[in-house]
Amino acid sequence: MAKKPDGKNTSGRGQRDLKVKVKTARGRTNSSTRWLQRQLNDPYVARAQAEGYRGRAAFKIMELDDKIGFLVPGARVVDLGCAPGGWLQVAVPRINALGEGKGPKGTILGVDLQEVDSLTGAEIHVLDFMDEGADDKVKEWLGGKADVVMSDMAASSSGHKQTDHLRIISLCEAAAYFAFDVLEDGGTFVAKVLAGGAEGDLQKLLKQKFTKVMNVKPPSSRSDSSEKFVVATGFRG
Ligand SMILES: C[S@@+](CC[C@H](N)C(=O)[O-])C[C@H]1O[C@@H](n2cnc3c(N)ncnc32)[C@H](O)[C@@H]1O
Repeated sequence: MAKKPDGKNTSGRGQRDLKVKVKTARGRTNSSTRWLQRQLNDPYVARAQAEGYRGRAAFKIMELDDKIGFLVPGARVVDLGCAPGGWLQVAVPRINALGEGKGPKGTILGVDLQEVDSLTGAEIHVLDFMDEGADDKVKEWLGGKADVVMSDMAASSSGHKQTDHLRIISLCEAAAYFAFDVLEDGGTFVAKVLAGGAEGDLQKLLKQKFTKVMNVKPPSSRSDSSEKFVVATGFRG
């Protein structure tokens, strides 16, 4: 029987194929009813549950890596905004962090504002990456260079599109400057952005430091969301 990323067996159950309708309940806002309905009918949510991933975000990094190929055995990876741990679950076997697969053994270090359940093969710390001196702490834990810096950091939605856009861009910029300090030549930077106008400066900044900068919308990223991923490869130091 197939194993889930946390070592449990998969149930073998198929994907949910019946649409679930959610009634508006007293105390529940229209927007949370819409959110609940979308969650219950989302095939990636059902797949994440069936395959043992901690969230549907796991499929985004899987699809990005399948397309670009940066999570290779032996890679040293930093995952910024790693809770609840879906990206970590995908990366651990791909970089051979347990040393049980083929090729060299990789390492992965995750940080988040929130507590994250432990995951064998990953080192996890609770940290606000925007705090003064946070980047130095991560550098100390890392203890050397990294081959991949990836950021899925996002603040909770404010409900105001432009505010959310500007907030995520500042998280991306902080992640990018950190990446400039720690990436090995040839390294990769991956960051989630919400489209909105200010990402031009981020692109310009990345183009000075990387051979190739791409905007990718993986299939699992909701089509009605302005979310996309900036992937920069070939760090030039
Ligand atoms: C979309 S979730 C990440 C999902 C994760 N990639 C996964 O696969 O499970 C975004 C995360 O960014 C974290 N975050 C937001 N701002 C942060 C900050 N300043 N420092 C650290 N983490 C932050 C949030 O706590 C949240 O857990």
